[in-house]
Amino acid sequence: SGFDKGDHSHFMQKEIAEQPEAVRRTLLGRLDHRFNTAHLGGIELAAREMLDIRRVKILGCGSAYYAGTLGAHLIETLARIPAHAEPASEFRYRNPVIEQDTLYIAVSQSGETFDTLAAIQEVKRKGGRVLGVINAVGSTIARECGRGVYLHAGPEVAVVSTKTWTSTAVAFALLALQLGRVRDLSAAQGARLLAALSALPDQIASIVTREAEVGALSAILAKADHAYFIGRSAGYAVAMEGALKLKEVSYLHAEAYPASELKHGPLALISPETPTLAIVPDDDLLAKNLSTIAEVRTRHGPVLAVTHEGVRLDGVEAAFAVPKSEPELDPILLNIPLQLLAYQVARGLGRDIDQPRNLAKSVTVE
Ligand code: AGP
Repeated sequence: SGFDKGDHSHFMQKEIAEQPEAVRRTLLGRLDHRFNTAHLGGIELAAREMLDIRRVKILGCGSAYYAGTLGAHLIETLARIPAHAEPASEFRYRNPVIEQDTLYIAVSQSGETFDTLAAIQEVKRKGGRVLGVINAVGSTIARECGRGVYLHAGPEVAVVSTKTWTSTAVAFALLALQLGRVRDLSAAQGARLLAALSALPDQIASIVTREAEVGALSAILAKADHAYFIGRSAGYAVAMEGALKLKEVSYLHAEAYPASELKHGPLALISPETPTLAIVPDDDLLAKNLSTIAEVRTRHGPVLAVTHEGVRLDGVEAAFAVPKSEPELDPILLNIPLQLLAYQVARGLGRDIDQPRNLAKSVTVE
């Protein structure tokens, strides 16, 4: 059954390993090779309505918020609609302006998170429309939204999310592609993304079997009290999710920072005792990321990297390279080693991986 660890030591390990299958299910029946687009039946938006969207606001908590941050990036990049993610837990406290031409999207694995539900109710009370990106079929949030996208990632038992972060990112890629193809994204661009989406399950399968290879990185993190996780642009969403994962299961302090912001303050904390884990994709921001790494090295900070094959990294303590996708989808693959890393650090420290202290799988109270 879905609640059996099988050959795995923990549900977290099992759910990391299940990601190729989870992503296959998220993609199933949704790739339209005839029109080089994606088709999400449950969003119930006519082409005309998609054209009229002026802004997208994504709401979720924790990992759902971080996946939404990547989702906003995908929608803005592919559909050219201004998009932004915000923690659902904060939303209702600032008396938010609700706009008719904004599409609100609520993200939740469990579909039961109180803060996310309260944010949706705030939007709806003011006449806004909300679409759900949800794993649990028939959950409270799914019913409150009434339309949206189911992840079909299967049950997630570990308190920390792994496969649902990945499936949420894939669902946003599908939504961004569908919105994009109604707007300015060409058929050739659509075909390029469809090919990359189809390749994801096998690429993920090739990463999840490499748990032993995060050893050099986890050894360095396990003996540190504090670590920085840095990334630029969509890489920052990956850094945020990776830092949260490490905090939740290992109880080590990890802080995510946009790579460009390091020099505006936190550089003062860089020392041989404070490792920095950098997200370094082989894309048009590579030179910028390499110069940030050099700045950290100058302050004698140990640097760990999650990167692509073929990237030359000087003075880096340890690195893990993932297969290349298209630039828009690279963050999905770059995040997987961070799950393995958090798992391995926590395991080495003897933590209660599937039930971290003070945490519950879904926070159904305010
Ligand atoms: C993820 O690892 C966390 N345990 C937590 O941040 C979680 O993502 C958050 O509470 C939202 O849960 P939901 O997706 O079920 O709404």
